[in-house]
Amino acid sequence: MANVKVCAIGTGRAGMVHARNFRWHVPHAELVALVDVNAEGVAAAEVELGLEGRGFKDLSAALAATEIDAVVITTPTFTHAALVREAAAHGLHVLCEKPMALSVAECDQMIADCERANVTLQLAFMRRFDPPFVQAKAQLDAGDIGDVLMVRSLTRGPGLPPAWANDLKTSNGMLAEVNSHDFDAVRWLTGAEYEEVHVRAAARKRPDLRATLPDFYDVAIVSAVMSNGAFGIIDGVCPADYGYDARAEIVGSAGLLFAGDIERPGAQRVTREGGAVGPHFTSWRDRFAEAYRAEEAHFIESVRSGAAPSVGGRDGRAAVAAVVAANRSYLEGRAVAVDG
Ligand SMILES: NC(=O)c1ccc[n+]([C@@H]2O[C@H](COP(=O)([O-])OP(=O)(O)OC[C@H]3O[C@@H](n4cnc5c(N)ncnc54)[C@H](O)[C@@H]3O)[C@@H](O)[C@H]2O)c1
Repeated sequence: MANVKVCAIGTGRAGMVHARNFRWHVPHAELVALVDVNAEGVAAAEVELGLEGRGFKDLSAALAATEIDAVVITTPTFTHAALVREAAAHGLHVLCEKPMALSVAECDQMIADCERANVTLQLAFMRRFDPPFVQAKAQLDAGDIGDVLMVRSLTRGPGLPPAWANDLKTSNGMLAEVNSHDFDAVRWLTGAEYEEVHVRAAARKRPDLRATLPDFYDVAIVSAVMSNGAFGIIDGVCPADYGYDARAEIVGSAGLLFAGDIERPGAQRVTREGGAVGPHFTSWRDRFAEAYRAEEAHFIESVRSGAAPSVGGRDGRAAVAAVVAANRSYLEGRAVAVDG
């Protein structure tokens, strides 16, 4: 297959990370169109990417103007289901940002439509392409630390996400927007499905947001029971202010693995007065820069070869099912079975 012609749907925060990579850094990919309902945003993206005249208000307009093979969907979560289904109806391959959708029912429709259209559906869980996480998973699978007893996975985001992400109704809240990656990582690293989750959450950083969003939370802990008996522990804080923090710790019957670090490579300065000071990550864009490109390269290779991607609709669905149960646990104050 020749180069894959990609259309970026969404030119916001995540959209521009993918758009820049597809434009300049992903082999065999050609960024041919940009779609966003925000005319100003898409115009600015056209200029930055050197794609003047290639910005459109919706996918239909883009398809009328240019040939497209695949889309990367980076719009707010509540739009993912309709956009993935629209792309599949046009025979387009899909790389969909997490969270896959708001409900398991939506995920089922998205998976069914993509299967019927015989198009690739990859979920953007970039930790699966991040070298430290990939190495930990390989050692785990090789039996280097014995059986998995417990996986602790955390994400603490530096700033509050866009306003739509604070509302449980339009986003499923922080556990979806920030901790989806952890829900996927615990499942991936334990190699098991979610059985039950129990959550405690509170609004400690931005209690003021409870005035308009009574269910808002910005600090959460999740304990999970997995189908192989392993335990999962997830924590989230957003905004964390101190930086961007995404790590996992895997406790096995014969050892321990760490994946990810808050410290970024660079010189460390030590003074008697100031102590030891080194650089640390403050943005997900920098921490996972290599992982995003590997994820996008994997998507393009899956489209070109016709092979199933290593992370697909069923993985996105499993994370949504766990997040939905987790929010119910938070709202009802009890452990909740995950409807797999
Ligand atoms: N994998 C990651 O590390 C990561 C990081 C950030 C965000 N995300 C995910 O990416 C998605 C977007 O988040 P964001 O922070 O970039 O949001 P954002 O608000 O910055 O950007 C969303 C963009 O989508 C546009 N949009 C809204 N509805 C649209 C529609 N129907 N059609 C076309 N464009 C539309 C908006 O105008 C905006 O430009 C979310 O699902 C989020 O969870 C993933």
